[in-house]
Amino acid sequence: MARKKIIAGNWKMNMTPSEAVKLVEELKPLVATEDADVVFCVPAIDIIPAMEAAKGSNIEIGAENMYFEEKGAFTGEISPAMLTDVGVKYVVLGHSERREYFAETSETVNKKMLKAFEHGLTPIMCCGETLEQREQGVTMDFIRQQVKVGFLNVTAAQAAISVIAYEPIWAIGTGKTATTAQAQEVCKAIRECIAEIYDEATAAAIRIQYGGSVNAATAPELFVQPDIDGGLVGGAALKPDFGKIVNWK
Ligand code: PGA
Repeated sequence: MARKKIIAGNWKMNMTPSEAVKLVEELKPLVATEDADVVFCVPAIDIIPAMEAAKGSNIEIGAENMYFEEKGAFTGEISPAMLTDVGVKYVVLGHSERREYFAETSETVNKKMLKAFEHGLTPIMCCGETLEQREQGVTMDFIRQQVKVGFLNVTAAQAAISVIAYEPIWAIGTGKTATTAQAQEVCKAIRECIAEIYDEATAAAIRIQYGGSVNAATAPELFVQPDIDGGLVGGAALKPDFGKIVNWK
């Protein structure tokens, strides 16, 4: 069965709740499509107003992070039940900015993955190499490790419905998109890694996005690649351009 594309916006730390409502209303007609799942991953405080604004549209509102404990003394964190209680289905886990600035590791990402599945949330698990790693030729070793640790104890059925976002760190927010060949090569290798951990059917089912300076001009070339099932979009998700990315065909 052909995989349905999934095109997600990652708003990062942008948009106040009132700005979020305006942006959702503005983008709503532009991102209407049946060909792809469209997800806006927004700051926690924007989730409820964004959801209200998205009502009646094809937009799913997702979260950018969550904690791996059920509840308790974890000041400032958001629990999975808080997300599911308001109808969130997708959560970005292990974004490189979380790894870099908030000390997340593949081990904590794995804990979050397991907790997300326990609550019926679909993770969008991010992985990707630094420029130094690419130059040293260790890109695939590094990403395989991120994927293997991230998916530790995740069942094949859970993996099959997961989303992985391949985001080379050097391409994030830099305007420097990976070439189509580079993006396809790594996404294919990630799929092979999933086949090794699980089986061919799981590898054929899992959706793998590319992220890193995706824009309306680069999306069509990227999204036709056989192993690229959509994108995780930062900067361009805050603009009408996102409508063009979603309707890339
Ligand atoms: P960018 O961000 O599209 O602004 O490069 C992508 C991301 O970090 O998810």
